[in-house]
Amino acid sequence: MDPLQDARPLEGRHILLGITGSIAAYKSALLCRLLKTAGADVRVVMTPLAKQFITPLTMATLSKNPILVEFFDPENGAWNSHVSLGEWADCCLIAPATANTLAKMAAGIADNLLLTTYLSARCPVVVAPAMDLDMYAHAATQENLARLAGRGVQIVEPAEGELASGLRGKGRMAEPDEIAAFVGRLLDEEKKKPLAGRRFVVTAGATIEPIDPVRFISNHSSGKMGYAIAGELARRGADVVLVSGRTALDTPEGVRRVDVLSADEMYTAAVEAFREADGAVMCAAVADYTPVAVADRKITKGDGEMTLTLRRTRDIAAELGADKRGRLLVGFALETHDEEAHAEAKLAKKHFDFIVLNSLRDAGAGFRGDTNKVTFIDAAGREPLPLMSKRDVAARIADKIESLLK
Ligand code: PMT
Repeated sequence: MDPLQDARPLEGRHILLGITGSIAAYKSALLCRLLKTAGADVRVVMTPLAKQFITPLTMATLSKNPILVEFFDPENGAWNSHVSLGEWADCCLIAPATANTLAKMAAGIADNLLLTTYLSARCPVVVAPAMDLDMYAHAATQENLARLAGRGVQIVEPAEGELASGLRGKGRMAEPDEIAAFVGRLLDEEKKKPLAGRRFVVTAGATIEPIDPVRFISNHSSGKMGYAIAGELARRGADVVLVSGRTALDTPEGVRRVDVLSADEMYTAAVEAFREADGAVMCAAVADYTPVAVADRKITKGDGEMTLTLRRTRDIAAELGADKRGRLLVGFALETHDEEAHAEAKLAKKHFDFIVLNSLRDAGAGFRGDTNKVTFIDAAGREPLPLMSKRDVAARIADKIESLLK
């Protein structure tokens, strides 16, 4: 933060400051003061061990808020809700972050209030590691940090220097002014993200409908188109839940992924995620039919023909369309003939705001490849786009979503 540029750059921002059990916790006092001076409202959550390093009284005085340590207030039994803390925060900053807390965050362990708050947080998360040089350099710590970074956690690198052990090396928590400036820059960038604060569900990939323990009915969807959309919406600041059929793809940065197999599982996950969402993009290739009965043992080969009885699956997009309540719903149509007519029928029937038509008659369009050729169709008409990468198609879809949300 540059005091000459902007005296209170964090005015009105909510910072949740997490403090863990490290000797560097004494620096959290100065960090808290810097954040407050910059205009932030700071609430402090300490791990039980952190109290051995800095007193709750010091942090409560500096933050001007009560300190939270336990799930319940020991005085009156009041519940300290990690969910509302996670929702309140514009940034969850854990400084110092010990090797132990980083490992628990990476593994999803939730055995104290700070960890449950981290797991509930929808805002950007920043960690400032502090530990001895060998602990920091250890493969386990580095793997945990890489895992957290892969999930979008921002890391303020520790500095080289003299450590509490007397040794010299990398592991000293970054200085409070550096951490405060990092948070300031991060929140500034977030402000510029056009879809910040919006929640989207994206479905992607193919569903798998089991016939017996060995065989299934599926289709050729790789998930590439849906994953590109989820990644693009997240890059623009949206909170994205990606409900994904089986794919070989990595989860895009900043996206929460829910893996499913069958159309029934995708229905349950998508309907659940849509409850909290501002919109959904339905890109998955969902089976319209599934076997009535799944054999519990491998079906053995007979001499003649075999008949498989299928039942209709539930239409996920139609279900979300029926419960739209003013929210945005984007559909896809994959066609092989009478493309526009079929897409327009789906647009109306499923209450999509617009539908993205792709046809298997177009070279480079549809399943598996890295390109697609699509036409946007809405109540106002048709907009054909040229062949482009799936990433560019995703960007055009995100542009249209942004303009509809304005
Ligand atoms: O994954 P890729 O290999 O990158 O391929 C991308 C793609 C071709 C799968 C993608 O671009 C695409 O077209 N996805 C939709 C495929 C499809 O199932 O279309 P549809 O016309 O059958 O379905 C219409 C709409 O209803 C779609 O938004 C679909 O997700 C949705 N639907 C369909 C059936 C069902 N039971 N539930 C649904 O939500």
